[in-house]
Amino acid sequence: MEVKTSLLDNMIGVGDMVLIEPLSEDTFIENLRKRFEHNEIYTYIGSVVISMNPYKSLPIYTAEKVEEYRNRNFYELSPHIYALADEAYRSLRDQDKDQCILITGESGAGKTEASKFVMSYVAAVCGKGQEVNKVKEQLLQSNPVLEAFGNAKTVRNDNSSRFGKYMDIEFDFKGDPLGGVISNYLLEKSRVVKQPRGERNFHIFYQLLSGASDDTLKKLKLDRDFSKYNYLSLDSATVNGLDDAACFRTVRNAMQIVGFMEDEVQSVLELVAAVLKLGNLEFKPESRCNGFDESRIKDKNDLKEMCELLGIEQSVLERAFSFRTVEAKMEKVSTTLNVAQAYYARDALAKNLYSRLFSWLVNRINESIKAQTKSRKKVMGVLDIYGFEIFEDNSFEQFIINYCNEKLQQIFIELTLREEQEEYIREGIEWTNIEYFNNAIICDLIENNKNGILAMLDEECLRPGTVTDETFLDKLNTVCAEHQHFESRQSKNSKFLTDHSLPHNCFRIQHYAGKVLYRVEGFVDKNNDLLYRDLSQAMYKANHSLIKILFPEGNPAKVNLKRPLTAGFQFRASVGTLMKNLLTKNPNYIRCIKPNDKKAAHIFTDSLVCHQVRYLGLMENVRVRRAGYAFRQAYEPCLERYKMLCKQTWPHWKGPAREGVEVLLKNLQVPAEEFAYGRSKIFIRNPRTLFFLEEKRRQCLEDLATLIQKIYRGWKCRTHFLLLKKSQVVVAAWYRRFAQQKKYQNIRSSALVVQSYIRGWKARKLLRELKHKKRCEEAVTTISAYWHGTQVRREYRKFFRANAGKKIYDFTIQRIMQKYFMGLKKTMPSMSPVDKSWPARPYGFLDGMHQELRRIFHLWRCKKYRSQFTEEKKATYEEKLAASELFKDKKALYPSSVGQPFKGDYVEITKNPKYQKLNSLVEDKVLLADVVSKINRANGKGAPRIFLLTKKSLVLADQKTGQVKASVPLLDLSSVSVSTQSDGFFALKLKEGSTSAAKGDFLLSSDRLIEIITKLHRIGAASAERNQINIDISDEFLVQFKQDKVCVKFIPGTPKNGNGVACKRKNNRLLEVSVPSP
Ligand SMILES: Nc1ncnc2c1ncn2[C@@H]1O[C@H](COP(=O)(O)OP(=O)(O)O)[C@@H](O)[C@H]1O
Ligand SMILES: [Mg+2]
Repeated sequence: MEVKTSLLDNMIGVGDMVLIEPLSEDTFIENLRKRFEHNEIYTYIGSVVISMNPYKSLPIYTAEKVEEYRNRNFYELSPHIYALADEAYRSLRDQDKDQCILITGESGAGKTEASKFVMSYVAAVCGKGQEVNKVKEQLLQSNPVLEAFGNAKTVRNDNSSRFGKYMDIEFDFKGDPLGGVISNYLLEKSRVVKQPRGERNFHIFYQLLSGASDDTLKKLKLDRDFSKYNYLSLDSATVNGLDDAACFRTVRNAMQIVGFMEDEVQSVLELVAAVLKLGNLEFKPESRCNGFDESRIKDKNDLKEMCELLGIEQSVLERAFSFRTVEAKMEKVSTTLNVAQAYYARDALAKNLYSRLFSWLVNRINESIKAQTKSRKKVMGVLDIYGFEIFEDNSFEQFIINYCNEKLQQIFIELTLREEQEEYIREGIEWTNIEYFNNAIICDLIENNKNGILAMLDEECLRPGTVTDETFLDKLNTVCAEHQHFESRQSKNSKFLTDHSLPHNCFRIQHYAGKVLYRVEGFVDKNNDLLYRDLSQAMYKANHSLIKILFPEGNPAKVNLKRPLTAGFQFRASVGTLMKNLLTKNPNYIRCIKPNDKKAAHIFTDSLVCHQVRYLGLMENVRVRRAGYAFRQAYEPCLERYKMLCKQTWPHWKGPAREGVEVLLKNLQVPAEEFAYGRSKIFIRNPRTLFFLEEKRRQCLEDLATLIQKIYRGWKCRTHFLLLKKSQVVVAAWYRRFAQQKKYQNIRSSALVVQSYIRGWKARKLLRELKHKKRCEEAVTTISAYWHGTQVRREYRKFFRANAGKKIYDFTIQRIMQKYFMGLKKTMPSMSPVDKSWPARPYGFLDGMHQELRRIFHLWRCKKYRSQFTEEKKATYEEKLAASELFKDKKALYPSSVGQPFKGDYVEITKNPKYQKLNSLVEDKVLLADVVSKINRANGKGAPRIFLLTKKSLVLADQKTGQVKASVPLLDLSSVSVSTQSDGFFALKLKEGSTSAAKGDFLLSSDRLIEIITKLHRIGAASAERNQINIDISDEFLVQFKQDKVCVKFIPGTPKNGNGVACKRKNNRLLEVSVPSP
């Protein structure tokens, strides 16, 4: 954040109008506009604050802002209302000067807001504590209450104060608030009964109807609907951005904080309700016998409700609206009221009721916020009074208001000039007279006791006879015609006779702020402010505590026949007191300006602002300020600000500040007439000089900035360098240390390694020796132990039981074996090799041996059996064995041959004489001789033949004759074919190409086929020169008959074929043999 040390820093336009160059109305307004556009709404003229209404909320009223402005000199920061408030508060607290803050400006220019900012600032900066906070809170909360009852929406301002307010805040010597006193001025009570177009009645009426609970409204006999009430204007009943209901809650809350009792609040609301009810009363004429009309109330319901609310007897009030009692001396005369008079009376009552209620509220608040101590108090007054008003139609109220503003302007002129003068005297500077417009002459026109306008009006009102507004105007025309600020058509001053902008029933006054045309209509009435006594008496009779207090003149015991004071008189008196009061205080001015008529932000209407600047006399104000010396500043801050412009004063000036400034100015060669030395301040005549100084300062600041920059950069570089250097040393030191450390650690660890190796080697050597030694010792011990053991065991073995087990075991086994073998011997099976029996094994563990024994036994038995055989028998068995090898399981005939011994010679060839010859033909010993059938190829029938087999050949001979039919050497035989079945067919096949083959193969049949073939085969096997004869076993084979080959096929026989084997020729090539199945 930028730090400000002077108002002159970062100014937008100029912050103080005194510095404007050149000074003209245009530059003045241009400066205001420029600042306004930058949201700089405050500008100074010396110590006066000009405030432009921004018509939008600005972030310049925060707690931080309060802190910023707190205890700072007036010109130190940008212009702000807080600077003024701070100045006023501090001079009150520290210099014991009573202060007043005068806030002036048009309606809607921001006066009330300004007064609130001042109060909240003072509240924020003054002391704290429970009691103090309570007082502060009460003072602040009096605002919403008064605003609700005294403010209304007007065309100029949605929250326009319709009363003047002056509030004295009282402080103790420490500056803590003690309490306050509020004075109110002239409430615009005509608003209660009638509002101009686009405006509203006082806020409270709308707030009550919108915000009160249904229950409260019922109690007050009110209806929420605005349109039910004559006194409420409807065309602008709601205001944009204004929440009446919420405001009502705020007001109730504020009343509670300020200290209103619940029943007091209720009474106040009842009165407000009564005013509304009163507005609804309507009258009708009723003819009387004397020819006059008398007024009567049309609808008595509202009257009844109102009387109930206020506790008034209905008939009394009703009568008061129909009759009027006039008392003169000791006489009482009662006259009737016509309808118009009744309405007049009704409105007068409403206005009075409301304005008295308002005054009562102010008093009640004062009671609450009254300072509790009697000790001396310091006072800060805040005046927020209605501004200068110029309407199309200006009446008595505007006249009074403008008079008040006229008076304020007067004291403004007086006080500013006085203050200026006093400062010059204080500072010992020569005073030069200043020309300015003094509005005292206008004040005199209005308030002069003899021929002032107010005095004329009072005179008219008191004058017996018919008094009207016109007679009053006539009077003015005659008395004031000569006055240079008074204008009227009827005045003898011919200047205005032809002025058509000035109607006949009007007069015009040239106020300091402009010309204002006043319509005289109503002046007399309003000044009289007449309330018929019957009404005030009726009110006094009410059974309602508050109403009774408000109408003390109704008390019959205190009948005062004197006319009541006129409004004008009262006002003049109170303004007089106010002025006196203000004159005793140190004034602080806030001049409010509204930038446009539209209540809009960002719009700046030159003509409107220009008008306000003119009538507020701001230009004059500046001129007065600049007449002598435009700018002044205490020596210390001045020297502090410009000391860099001169070598002697820079950077420090040792002597008094004044001398420093003198040296400085001399050095800068400022012309002597441009400044004057006061006691504590230097006075500069021309803003130009100040700007010259400022410019120089700016340049110097630039140079200084460069210098500072240069030195700072140098310093920064050097510090950086030094730091680098230092760091380098540190780094180097650290690095060296680190390197050394590392080296040392290397050496150390190497030493350790070497050491450890040596130690290890030594240790291992020692260990080996020790181990060896130990092993030797152990070996000796072991050997001796074993030796001893052996010795002992040897000696003691016989005593050991441990050996018994094995012996017992061996013995048992022996016994078992013995028993086993003995048993086996007894139960041995027969010696027959075919006996399959074998005793059961007695023990499982003997299983293998038992079987082995059985096998051995069997082999032995067989051997024994074989050894009994004779050579002959042996040969027979060998033959049988061979037969078995050849045919077992191959030919079905075989089993039947097993039981029959192979006899060989079945025909007893040697013995039978028939075969003597045959026998002799055969050279070798006949191995086999039997009768076989030779199968005929042609029919399949067999022819018996004797079959002889020797070692070398086989012979076929006729059975009967013994004649050799065929003799075939066995060498010519190639193979034998037989069937698998139980038939006896066999074919002897001859080697192709052999001598015997010419006749073809032999197909024979014999019951002893097995024997024949076996023998044939054995011969082949035994002879060395011949190959064995092949034996084909198959159910189908070929037989070579001379040329042809015939197939012999064996088929199972059917019962049809009989039980024997039958051979049939099927065709030339097939012989079919049917074999019955066994
Ligand atoms: N400083 C301000 N910041 C914001 N709005 C402001 C300021 N001053 C005035 N106003 C606006 O202008 C309106 C009229 O101001 P107010 O103080 O009631 O005028 P006055 O009392 O002069 O008639 C206010 O209701 C508010 O909206
Ligand atoms: Mg106001």
